[in-house]
Amino acid sequence: MSIKFSKESQTFILSTKSTTYAMKIQKDYLAHLYYGSRIADNDDLSYLLRLKNISLNPNPWGEVDRSFSIGVLPMEYPGGGAGDFRTPAIIVKNESGSTVTDLKYVDYRILSEKPTLEGLPSTYIGDTSGEVSTLEIMLEDAVTGLAVNLYYTVFADKDVIARHTVIKNTSHKELVIEQAYSGCLELPDSSYDLITLPGTWSKERVMERQSIRRGIFSFESKRGTSSHQNNPFAAITAPDTNEMQGDAYGITLVYSGNFSITTEVNETLTTRIVAGINPYDFNWTLAPDQTFTTPELLMTFSDQGIGQMSRNFHDLMREHLIKDRYKGLKTPILINSWEASYFDFDQDSLLALAKQAAPLGIDLFVMDDGWFGNRNDDTTSLGDWYVNENKLKGGLPDLIAKIKETGMNFGLWIEPEMVSPDSELYKQHPDWCLHVAGRVPAISRSQLVLDLSRDDVVDYIGDAIIRVLSLGDISYIKWDMNRHLTDVGSAQLPSHRQRETWHRYVLGVYKLMARITERFPNILFESCSAGGGRFDAGMLYYMPQAWTSDNTDAIDRLFIQYGSSLAYPVMAMGTHVSASPSHSVNRTTNMATRGDVAMFGTFGYELDLAVVTEEEKEQIKHQIEAYHQHSNLIRYGDYYRLLSPGHDNGSAWMIVSPDKEEALVCFVQILSEANALPKLLKLAGLDPDKKYAVNGEQLVLSGATLMNAGLLMEFNFGDYLSQLYYLKSVIK
Ligand code: DGJ
Repeated sequence: MSIKFSKESQTFILSTKSTTYAMKIQKDYLAHLYYGSRIADNDDLSYLLRLKNISLNPNPWGEVDRSFSIGVLPMEYPGGGAGDFRTPAIIVKNESGSTVTDLKYVDYRILSEKPTLEGLPSTYIGDTSGEVSTLEIMLEDAVTGLAVNLYYTVFADKDVIARHTVIKNTSHKELVIEQAYSGCLELPDSSYDLITLPGTWSKERVMERQSIRRGIFSFESKRGTSSHQNNPFAAITAPDTNEMQGDAYGITLVYSGNFSITTEVNETLTTRIVAGINPYDFNWTLAPDQTFTTPELLMTFSDQGIGQMSRNFHDLMREHLIKDRYKGLKTPILINSWEASYFDFDQDSLLALAKQAAPLGIDLFVMDDGWFGNRNDDTTSLGDWYVNENKLKGGLPDLIAKIKETGMNFGLWIEPEMVSPDSELYKQHPDWCLHVAGRVPAISRSQLVLDLSRDDVVDYIGDAIIRVLSLGDISYIKWDMNRHLTDVGSAQLPSHRQRETWHRYVLGVYKLMARITERFPNILFESCSAGGGRFDAGMLYYMPQAWTSDNTDAIDRLFIQYGSSLAYPVMAMGTHVSASPSHSVNRTTNMATRGDVAMFGTFGYELDLAVVTEEEKEQIKHQIEAYHQHSNLIRYGDYYRLLSPGHDNGSAWMIVSPDKEEALVCFVQILSEANALPKLLKLAGLDPDKKYAVNGEQLVLSGATLMNAGLLMEFNFGDYLSQLYYLKSVIK
């Protein structure tokens, strides 16, 4: 049983394979006791509260025991204004205008299922063999009639706990939620490192590590999407934790909108972390009996370093987040028209590209942006979802038929959330974009954002996209989103609900995605937001892969894919071989390096094949064969980061099959070094007692040797060179 309640000590113990999470009812408050490596589930952990009088911290009214203060107590879901001066998880304003929010414990239930989150993506149990159960804890503020239910779903064999909160108004008057995080995590110390994935367009999710300090540190998105600039993921580690050892907590939000993850170290040198919807420009009015559900927060812990923390998330997302129908899927190897021709194409040029691609073994042809309305550049036509017959003479059905004649399937790019001011849709419905009365909304990439907080807009655009997707046999959709939200207001909401628009927009996106992906279960969907601007667990619930970055340069991708792998499985990362010199940074890399880096992802090509040499075409054929051979291993194996591109003048990683029978290792040298010895790369995750043949039978070494002494990298002379090693266990 992974959830236990002890009546004597009034404690809840949540146990996973290797971790324990503990809470205690302390004088009607729900206090946090412990999260970390697994400990005995029958010890009384109450002493961990360290009750002590800390001067100037208030006691609840009527308390004579001054050792007790909610200003010091580690809290499970703290309010504010009643004695806890730290960052609150929830603040609710009642009719009187007061925002004092003071939640007391009421009751609990243990559920064998996992409740769904209304309108939001979330992990699910599915037909797992592992134990999953949910603890529901009820809290209330009896003065305001605020009821808060906390949910903890324990994925025991994954070492992950999924949390969310449902807030209900049980009073007869309106309540206004001013802030409501998905969860709060209290840690007993202040010497931690914080690892985040900040970035910008074309440089998303490059890992950053810093010490947590006294005071408040917040990283967040106020852009309406999870964003390129920050990612809703954080690792909190001991200062000496590395990839292979040490304590590492991971948190990530299953949410794609404005988020905030905030750490606070206070006077007692303990650390509070809250994560969820960004309180910036947010509130939500709850009428009597109405509820509000926060996005899901995933937490994991490992004492085996950052690597195991990542693998816990990878496993969870592959098994309990990505939809069943995409599991076990062998993703098609695609050619995308974007970096091949951008907007400059017609049916003939697309078919010419397709005819070059098919003989190489490519499975899927994707027509990117530029096929609809009058779109010849990025200034027009978003919203006009009908085919530009000047470019595509016989329309979509004819193009699809001709592509299919080459032996490939057909895929399409769409950007449903947007409208160009220069479009029929905008002329007909100028009030359908996000805007604030009296202000001219800001333009970005010549486009406006549709107001998807409105059901009528969501329904209209859903119908339009469904019409397009019904025009022929479409196997793949790339769902793009190319600007951030400004002038966030909705013509349909009353003034006191305007600050709900940000979150309602996200709910509208989810509703649209649910409708379209359910309607076309055989289409493979890939999300995209100007590259990797919405690479989050919320998106992965609807679409099993995401375009990682518009930067397809193999060397820059080392950093981007390394960072992304902290939270997200390799199978979710859109990776393509593109032209050299790279369109992103003008760097020249060879075809082998570009192929090796792209292989650790969904794998595809995005370049003009007419200018690729015959020798490179042969290399492409071999890369495709190799991907077919290894795709199962790459998609479902255990991922180990070996060298960090930020520190090691190179990057190396490997994937080991769950039965440890085979592994694939990749090493990329960034800059060549004069007079240097070849590198010894210590591998990981192998069976120490197994013997592995390395790239054929000539070299056979034991797992123990490969992990402790290392594998000798073939000497690379030159910049940006890569090596791929396939290890297969042999009986010797
Ligand atoms: C941004 C995407 O990331 C690109 O791959 C491409 O689809 C363009 N949008 C098209 O406008």
